[in-house]
Amino acid sequence: MWRIAVILFAYLISMGLFSLAGFVAYFFLSGFIFGAGFQPTPTEAIEKAAQTLRLRGGMVVYDLGSGLGKVLFHLSKKYEVKCVGVEIDPLKFVLSSLIARIKKLEDKVQFIRGNILDFDLSNADVVFLFLSSETGIMEKIASKALVEMKAGSKLVSYIHEFDKGSGVFLEQSIGGNIHVYSVPLREVITLNR
Ligand SMILES: C[S@@+](CC[C@H](N)C(=O)[O-])C[C@H]1O[C@@H](n2cnc3c(N)ncnc32)[C@H](O)[C@@H]1O
Repeated sequence: MWRIAVILFAYLISMGLFSLAGFVAYFFLSGFIFGAGFQPTPTEAIEKAAQTLRLRGGMVVYDLGSGLGKVLFHLSKKYEVKCVGVEIDPLKFVLSSLIARIKKLEDKVQFIRGNILDFDLSNADVVFLFLSSETGIMEKIASKALVEMKAGSKLVSYIHEFDKGSGVFLEQSIGGNIHVYSVPLREVITLNR
C-alpha cells in the first residue's frame, strides 16, 4: 500500500514540477511569439509618468500590451482613471482579467484580447506603452495615434522612443527612459507634410 502512495506522491510532484517549468517557459518564450516580452513597467516609472501627466479621475487610460495589468491596476487604484488594456497573449489576458476580479477592479479596468493594431484609440486621453523597438510596432502605433487620437492626448512609452519623423511630438523624457509624447492638431500634421 505504501508503495502505491510513494509512486502517487512522486507522480504528483513530477507533474507539478513539469507544469511549473512549462508555465515559466511560456512566460519567457511568449516574448518571441507575441513581440515584446513579459517584463512589467517599474512602479516608479508609472508614478513619475502619472504625476507628470497630472492624471485625475474620469480620464481614460489605455495600456497597449497590458501584460498582467500592473500599470492599469496601479493607476486605477491611485488615480481613479478608467482603464482599458489590450493584450495579444491569451494567457496574460486570462490572468489579468482574473486578477482584476480578485482585486474587485473589474468595473474600472477592462482587458481586451487582441492586437493593438486592430484596436481603436479614439477614446484614450493617455496611452501607456512598453513594447519593442524592433518589430516596427512603434511606427505603426504613431501612425494610428495621429489618425485616431484627439489632439493634445498623450502617449507614454517606457524605454522605447518613437522615430523623430513619426509625427507625435516629444514633450519630455523623464530620467532618460520615460518618454512623453502628445498628439498634435491635424492642421499641424498636414502643414508638416
Ligand atoms: C514588456 S510587456 C509590458 C506589459 C505592461 N504594459 C506592463 O508594463 O506591465 C509587453 C506586452 O505587450 C504585449 N504585446 C506585444 N505586442 C502586442 C500586440 N501587437 N498587441 C497586443 N499586445 C502585444 C506582450 O504580449 C506583452 O505582454
